[in-house]
Amino acid sequence: MQRTQQKPVVLIVDSVYNRAPQLFSSISDLHILEAPTGEEALARMVKEKQAAAVVLNVDSYRGPLYQSFGNKGLLARFGVGCDGVDFDKASKHGLVVTNTPGVLDSTVAEFTVFLAGEVLRMAGRCSNEIKQGRWNPVMGRELHGKTFAILGLGNIGKRVSQILSFGFGVDVLALKKHAGDPDRLKEKYGVNKISTEFSEIAPHADIVSLHLPANSETHHFLDRDRLHQLKRGAVLINTGRGALVDEIALYEALKSGQLAGAGLDVFAREPYKPADPDADLRTLSNVILTPHIGSSTKECSRRMAKRVLQNIRYFLDKEYDQMDVVTR
Ligand code: GLV
Repeated sequence: MQRTQQKPVVLIVDSVYNRAPQLFSSISDLHILEAPTGEEALARMVKEKQAAAVVLNVDSYRGPLYQSFGNKGLLARFGVGCDGVDFDKASKHGLVVTNTPGVLDSTVAEFTVFLAGEVLRMAGRCSNEIKQGRWNPVMGRELHGKTFAILGLGNIGKRVSQILSFGFGVDVLALKKHAGDPDRLKEKYGVNKISTEFSEIAPHADIVSLHLPANSETHHFLDRDRLHQLKRGAVLINTGRGALVDEIALYEALKSGQLAGAGLDVFAREPYKPADPDADLRTLSNVILTPHIGSSTKECSRRMAKRVLQNIRYFLDKEYDQMDVVTR
């Protein structure tokens, strides 16, 4: 639709703006401004500029952002997880929340598999050693033939299963809230066994990967007790959310050999800060740490940016049924 009056102001937090700056700066029907991520400053800017929409990254907003809109506005997540949004406050202040589903599943799934491969084969460590003048061939382990537990079989979990099962000959087990149709999940996604109980899966998995949504039910889902239900020497991959794991218990499990290794892309606090200085994951040689880059590819960033802009335009045109509205 042609917008003839003053262009609606859309604020995009800097960490999102930097994911697709050329695309965002080329938009002419919206007045797009790069905005600070911090809540106080962002809220001030929403008020000052009378923004119609704000595009958010994964950061948590619990305070003044909501009331800074004049009882109408859009909180558009650039991504899928909406654990940083306070839905009660959003609805109290008349704000609609959207996300960008369906455009990042393969990207995050690929990265999950790369991270597992990196923990098992240690290519990065070998490269660093060669650069430091050491030729030290390490002994890795294979994905093929391993049992891989996917905790949370949403779109990303399903894609991880397809890649591993059909591409690598991995035996995939999945934890799912509702078991669903096992024959279809096996045929389409290569999931060999579904369970609604962690205890049924835990002792069999060589590698465990987290894909649950982060909420009050799943907070510290992998606590000390559940980490000890895993097979000794298992590997953990987390490209979901840091809040799903008790990081102190994880540190202890990695230190004691209960876990042989971990690949972590997400953390309870980002940028990573240890929950306890004596449980600093950065000090462990069997851990690969990456700065929440699961969906950070040029291709995916463009797809997400387009989807976010689409949601904003539907919102402004009051075509609410076309939007990717999130209500939980
Ligand atoms: C990334 O973590 C997302 O929620 O999209």
